[in-house]
Amino acid sequence: MEKIIGYINAHRQRYIDELIDIVKIPSISSSREHRPYVQRCAEVLKDQMLRAGLRRAQIMPTPGHPVVYGEWLEAPGKPTVLIYGHYDVQPVEPLDAWITPPFEPDIRQGELYGRGTVDDKGQLYIHLKAVEAWLKNEGRLPVNVKFIAEGEEEIGSLHLEEFLRQHKDLLQADVVIISDTPMLDRGIPSICYGLRGLTYMEIEVQGPTTDLHSGSFGGIVANPANVLCEIIARLKDERGRVTIPGFYDKVVPLSEQERQNLARLPFDEQAYFQLTGAPAPFGEEGFTMLERLWARPTLDVNGLISGHTGEGEKTIIPARALAKVSMRLVPDQDPDEIARLFEDYVRHIAPPTVRVTVRKCSTGVGFLASYEHPAFQAAIRALEKGFGRRAVFIREGGSIPFVGTIYGILQRPCILLGFGLPDENSHAPNEKLNLENYHRGIISCAYLYQKLADVDFELG
Ligand code: BES
Ligand code: MN
Ligand code: MN
Repeated sequence: MEKIIGYINAHRQRYIDELIDIVKIPSISSSREHRPYVQRCAEVLKDQMLRAGLRRAQIMPTPGHPVVYGEWLEAPGKPTVLIYGHYDVQPVEPLDAWITPPFEPDIRQGELYGRGTVDDKGQLYIHLKAVEAWLKNEGRLPVNVKFIAEGEEEIGSLHLEEFLRQHKDLLQADVVIISDTPMLDRGIPSICYGLRGLTYMEIEVQGPTTDLHSGSFGGIVANPANVLCEIIARLKDERGRVTIPGFYDKVVPLSEQERQNLARLPFDEQAYFQLTGAPAPFGEEGFTMLERLWARPTLDVNGLISGHTGEGEKTIIPARALAKVSMRLVPDQDPDEIARLFEDYVRHIAPPTVRVTVRKCSTGVGFLASYEHPAFQAAIRALEKGFGRRAVFIREGGSIPFVGTIYGILQRPCILLGFGLPDENSHAPNEKLNLENYHRGIISCAYLYQKLADVDFELG
């Protein structure tokens, strides 16, 4: 291992420079105009896979953005590791809130700023660079490796499930490694064993056929903006519980044991809440902050559009109003069933004075698994090498549709090794990645492959 670690240290700067090159490509999956960049990014990634020494790398089309697949399978009799990441990124608005432009990566105080640095190009590159260090120094890897990099994660992995089912044989593996989550806190290596799922909906309320003068018509016609607000107000009660009938029916309750485990984590509720800048916390009674974040479902308005939003005033009854509403789900809530319950309830409470359309947007299943399998011991020991500290086991509040889906298909242990930090502004302006974590992450992963080679997968 000494040679490999020496190489990682010696190439530290080049590893950063190569990450900078790919962060420069604005691979925003939600934007039509950025399509060519998403494609470019896939090509660069494929080249980088080959340059790292993978034997085969290819861009695999889907009805949407392509998947980049790469492999090195020359360790017969050794375990096969499937490594997942995504190369698409979130939009960058509001642009004026960025200190330096999102696609002109900049290093300040040991952090690399730019869209996609932590979510997820940096975390994907951690694995690619660890693989390179092995191949350039040993001419081999201790395990077989398959990479799958998705281009539609940030828009709900629309075509992923079908892709995974179609290529089930190609993706066969003993263990799945995902690096797309944060650590619990600075310096605390973390292995994540649970994610929330997601159901994203739109409610459109249509009233009059066109905007109306509110003097000539106000008082005789229902206002779609008012009605939409009334509908939204009835989705939750004043204590923060979702009122949709059946919403909580399949929620897996926390066991006493798990509550104790979560309570023992080195987590500072106050410090975490301060990241929000909000004046006071809010949440479901009877649950700690981590329980609310990781093990309880939510319902939140993500966007509201109606009426006059420009300068000054305009006295109108708007013709329509639109709300984007998403629900974070927990095991075993089924995203499609929740979408149906949501739609039924909204239809049920909508007054006859307006026309209401309910649309289902993206969905993703949650994930929750035990961490008993011996592969997790390999991960603990690898992280100890990289970070000098024993890893903690955490859940997360975010969603990665791939994880629950591949777990369902392959039924293999999924290890989520996160190298991000909670304050790295993913999805927000000034997204960044701590370069020390990037480096330690690469070292950890180099050890991880070594340690996974000795795991007896027949047992699990
Ligand atoms: N890397 C995140 C998922 C994540 C965020 C995990 C925070 C743990 C903590 C991922 O890129 C993401 O943003 N996922 C979306 C999925 C959605 C579009 C279906 C999310 O969670 O909003
Ligand atoms: Mn991500
Ligand atoms: Mn994301």
